[in-house]
Amino acid sequence: MKETVLVTGGAGYIGSHTAVELINAGFDVVIADNLSNSDLQAVEGVRRITGREIPFEQVDCCDREAFKRLFERYEFRSAIHFAASKAVGESVEQPLKYYRNNLTSFLNLVELMRDFHRPNILFSSSCTVYGEPDKQPVTEQTPRKPATSPYGNTKQMCEDILRDSIAAIPEMRGIALRYFNPIGAHPSALIGELPRGVPQNLLPYVTQTAAGIRECLSIFGDDYPTPDGTCIRDYIDVVDLARAHVAALHRMLEKRGTERYEVFNVGTGRGVSVLELVKGFEKANNLKINYRIAPRRAGDIVAIWADPSLANRELGWHAERTLEETLHAAWEWQCHLDRREK
Ligand code: UFG
Repeated sequence: MKETVLVTGGAGYIGSHTAVELINAGFDVVIADNLSNSDLQAVEGVRRITGREIPFEQVDCCDREAFKRLFERYEFRSAIHFAASKAVGESVEQPLKYYRNNLTSFLNLVELMRDFHRPNILFSSSCTVYGEPDKQPVTEQTPRKPATSPYGNTKQMCEDILRDSIAAIPEMRGIALRYFNPIGAHPSALIGELPRGVPQNLLPYVTQTAAGIRECLSIFGDDYPTPDGTCIRDYIDVVDLARAHVAALHRMLEKRGTERYEVFNVGTGRGVSVLELVKGFEKANNLKINYRIAPRRAGDIVAIWADPSLANRELGWHAERTLEETLHAAWEWQCHLDRREK
C-alpha cells in the first residue's frame, strides 16, 4: 500500500507544488485547505499535472472537530503543514489574526498527530527567523534574532512548539524547513503563485508589470550597502523547494538522523540583488520592465542568503533549476493567468 501524506494548505502556492512532487515520488496525498488565501483551481492544476484524483477536504485547521474528522477518515502517517497566514505587513496591522490562526492551527495539528499516533510532522518555516544576520551565508547554527513581525514570531514559536513536543513524545519526528525566497511556477504553467490584490512580493509584481497589469515596479531602495545598492535575497525555485519536502519526508520515514527534531535551510546558496532579479527577468524573457527607484520599504533587511550544505549533505537535496529557467516559468505562468482571465 502507498504511503499517504496530509498536506495542509495544499491549495496554496508552495503546498500545491509539493503535492505534485509527492505524487511524482510515489506518495498518496490528501489536501486540506480552508481556501482563505487559495483557490480550488490549484487543486485542479495538481490533478491535471499528475492525472490523479487527489482527495481535497475544505477544512480549517483551527476548527479542531472538523480537523479531527480528517484524522478519522484518512490513514496518513505524515503531515506537511503549510496552512498559515503569510503577509508580513498584514501581520503588523492584525497581530491577533496571525497569532490565532498560525498558532491554533499548528497546535491542533501537533495534538491530533500525537493523539492519533501519526509520527511525522514537516513544518514550513522561514529564513525570517534569522532576522538581519551578522554573517553571510546563514547556516542552521546562525542564531535566531528577535522576530521583527508577528508573522515571523509565529514561525519562531511554531518551531519551538514542534521542538518541545517532539522532545516529549518519543514516537514522533519533526523537521522545520527554513525557506528562503520561493519564486517561479510549475513548468506546465498549470499551477503557480496567485497573489490577491496588489502583490507584496517582488517577482509577482515584476510579472504583473510585464503583463501591463501594473504600470511601474518600485524598487525599494538603491542605497543599501550592497554592490548595486539594492537588497540581496536567495531566490529558490518553488519546484526545487517542493522537492526538498519530499527529501525531508523520506528522512523522517526512514528514521535517518540521530535527532528526532531537525532544521534545514532551503535555499540555493546564491545571493541575488533586486536589480539583478529584474535584469535577469528581462533577459530570460526578452522583454523590458518599467521600473523606478523608490524609498526603502520599512522592515526590509539588507541581505540574506543560505548556506544550504546541511540539506545538500543530509537530505541529498540540491536546488537544480537555474535562475533563468525559474524566471521563464514565472512569466509563462503569468501569461497563462492572463489567458484564463480573458
Ligand atoms: N521589493 C521591491 N519592490 C517590490 C517588492 C519587493 O523592490 O515591489 C524588494 C524588497 O524591498 C526586498 C526584495 O524585493 O528587498 C524581496 O522582497 P519580497 O517582498 O519579495 O520578499 P521578502 O524577502 O521581503 O520576504 C520574503 C517572504 C516573507 C518571509 C521573508 C523572509 O515574503 O514571507 O521573505 O526573509 F518572511
